[in-house]
Amino acid sequence: MEYKIAVLKGDGIGPEIVDQAIKVLEAVGRKFQHDFVFTEALTGASAIDQVGDPYPEETHQLCMDSDAVLFGSIGDPKYDNDPKASVRPEQGLLAMRKKLGLYANIRPVSTFPSLIHKSPLRKDLVEGADFVVVRELTGGIYFGERGRSEDLNKAFDTMMYNREEVERILKLAFDYAAKRNKRLTVVDKANVLASSRLWREIAQEMGPAYPDIELDYMFVDNAAMQIIQWPKKFDVMVTGNMFGDILSDEASVITGSLGLLPSASMGIHTSVFEPIHGSYPQAAGKNIANPLATVLSAAMLLELGLDLKDEAEAIRLVVSRSMDEGMVTADIAVDQKAYKTSEVGDWLADKL
Ligand code: IPM
Ligand code: MG
Repeated sequence: MEYKIAVLKGDGIGPEIVDQAIKVLEAVGRKFQHDFVFTEALTGASAIDQVGDPYPEETHQLCMDSDAVLFGSIGDPKYDNDPKASVRPEQGLLAMRKKLGLYANIRPVSTFPSLIHKSPLRKDLVEGADFVVVRELTGGIYFGERGRSEDLNKAFDTMMYNREEVERILKLAFDYAAKRNKRLTVVDKANVLASSRLWREIAQEMGPAYPDIELDYMFVDNAAMQIIQWPKKFDVMVTGNMFGDILSDEASVITGSLGLLPSASMGIHTSVFEPIHGSYPQAAGKNIANPLATVLSAAMLLELGLDLKDEAEAIRLVVSRSMDEGMVTADIAVDQKAYKTSEVGDWLADKL
C-alpha cells in the first residue's frame, strides 16, 4: 500500500537525523511491501531564512495532504539570543500545531537497561519506569489572550480552557490508559486556578464512563516532585499545555535516555511524529547526533499514524539490538567505539 509522508527536517541536526529515519522506513517498506512516498518541505529557522515564514502555507498544504508527518527539530541560537526578533522558529511549531489541530502531545517515557547509568536518579528508583505524559497542545496559556501595556511595564498571558478542549484531551488520555496499565493521573493546579477546576470537574464527570480506569488527581508541584521520587508509580499522566511542557522535559531526562525518546502529536488533521530533544546546533552537520529518537518516532508514526503495528515493532527490535551490540553514537557509547549518525542509520536499515 502507498503512504504519503511529509518530511519536515527543520534546523540544526534535524536533517541528518531525519535522513536515518527515512532509511529505516524505506527498509520497512521493502520488508513489509509498503510504498512510502516522502516529500520534503521547509520549517523553522531554515524556512525563515529561505521564505521569511517558519511554517509556510505550502508546508501546511503538504502536511494536510499527507498520511503522516515526520518532523526533525527546529530552533537556532541566533533567534534564542534576540528577544526582539519579529519572527521566531518556534512560531512555526505553534502555527503547525494550531493549523493541524494537534491537540494531544504524547510523550512515552521509558528506560533502556543499557542507559540506566546515565540517569541522574538512583538506578533502583528509575529502573523499569514506564509512563506516558499526555499534554494538551493547542490551548491554555500558549494560545490565550496576551498583551503588553502602552508604557511596556506590564505584560500578561491568559490560561483559558473550554469544555470541548478539555473533554477531547481527557477522552484521548482515558483511551490511552485503557490500552496500558489502566491508571490515569490528572495533573493540575486546582487549588489555585479556575481553569484547573474546570479540568477536574470534567474529569470527575467522565470517570464513571471508564470504570476500569483508576483515576486520580495531583497538583502540578506535587507531580513534579513525585516524578523524581517515585517515577514508577505513574502510568498515564494528562495535563494542560504549559504544565505538560515542563513535566515532559523533567520526565524525559530522568531515564537517562533523552536522545532516545520519541513523541507524537495528534488531533484533528494529520499527526506529527518527532524526537523530544531539540535541534542541538553545536552538533549540526558533524554526523555525530544520535538518530534513535527520530527512528523511534518513525516507529510511533507507523503504529499510531498508519496503524502498522508489526512494522513499528520491527523498528523497536532493531533499535534495541543496535544498543545491545554497541552500534551507537558517541553520546551513549560506553568504553566502546562510537559510530557516526549515518553509520547507525545504515546498520539499522540493513539489519531490519
Ligand atoms: C516543546 C518545546 C516547545 C513548547 C517550544 C519550542 C515552543 O519546548 O515542544 O516542548 O514549549 O511547546
Ligand atoms: Mg518543551
